[in-house]
Amino acid sequence: MKIGILGTGDVGKALGRGFLATGHEVLLGAREAGNAKAREWAEAQGPKARAGTFAEAAEYGELIVLATLGTAVVEATKLAGPAHFAGKVVVDTTNPLDLSKGFPPTLAVSGEDSGGERVQRALPDARVVKAWNSVGNALMFRPELPGGPPTMFRCGNDAEAKATVAGILEAWGWSPMDAGDIRSSRYLEALCILWVSTAARGNHWLQAFKMLRP
Ligand SMILES: NC(=O)c1ccc[n+]([C@@H]2O[C@H](COP(=O)([O-])OP(=O)(O)OC[C@H]3O[C@@H](n4cnc5c(N)ncnc54)[C@H](OP(=O)(O)O)[C@@H]3O)[C@@H](O)[C@H]2O)c1
Repeated sequence: MKIGILGTGDVGKALGRGFLATGHEVLLGAREAGNAKAREWAEAQGPKARAGTFAEAAEYGELIVLATLGTAVVEATKLAGPAHFAGKVVVDTTNPLDLSKGFPPTLAVSGEDSGGERVQRALPDARVVKAWNSVGNALMFRPELPGGPPTMFRCGNDAEAKATVAGILEAWGWSPMDAGDIRSSRYLEALCILWVSTAARGNHWLQAFKMLRP
C-alpha cells in the first residue's frame, strides 16, 4: 500500500520505517518542497521511500498518517489540501501539547473537545483513527517488552478504518484496543501526558501501557 506521512519528526520517520519494513511504500512530507530532513530520510531508506510536501504525501497516500506538531495539525491538513483525504483512512498520531507552562505539558485542547475531533471536523470525508499517540516513537514499531504485546488504544468513527489500523498494529507487535468513536481522543490525548510524565519520573522512556482482563 502507498502510505503518505505528514511530518518529518521522530514519529513520521519511525512509522515510515515500520511501513517500509512491512512491505509498503512511503512518501514523507514536509511543509516545503526540498525539506532536508525528508530528503535525507528517504535517501537513507532506499527506493521504496520518497520525500515531498504535505500535499504530495496526502495525494500519494492510500492511507495517510498525520505526524505533525499537534497544535498545527489542522493547519497541516489545510496546506495538504483537504480533498486529498476524502474517503481515506487517516491515522492521527498527534497530541495538542502545550509546553508553555513547563513540564509535563498540558493539552492545548481538552474537556469537551480534542485534537482528534478537530482533525475529523476539518476532514469530514476522511476516516480518522487516532492511534500511536500514547507511546514514544522508539517503541512504535515492534515494541518488544517483557510481559508480551502492549496495548495500543485507538478510536475513530469508522469501524472499517479502525479494523484496518488494528491489522497494522497486530502486524507490528501491538495488542490493539478499541476505545470508541473519535470523541475518545480526549482520553487518548490525556494518556499521552500520563505516558510522558511517568516516563520522565525515573527516566523510563521505553515503556508502554497494557490493559489486563480476566
Ligand atoms: N515524539 C514522540 O515520541 C511522540 C510520540 C507519540 C505522539 N507524538 C505526537 O506526534 C506528533 C509528531 O511528533 P514529532 O516529535 O515526530 O514531531 P514534531 O516536532 O512535533 O512535529 C514536526 C512536524 O510538524 C510540522 N510543523 C511544525 N510546525 C508546523 C506548522 N506551524 N504548521 C504545519 N506543520 C508544522 C513540521 O513541518 P516541517 O517538516 O515542514 O518542518 C514537521 O513535519 C506530535 O503531535 C506529538 O505530540 C510524538
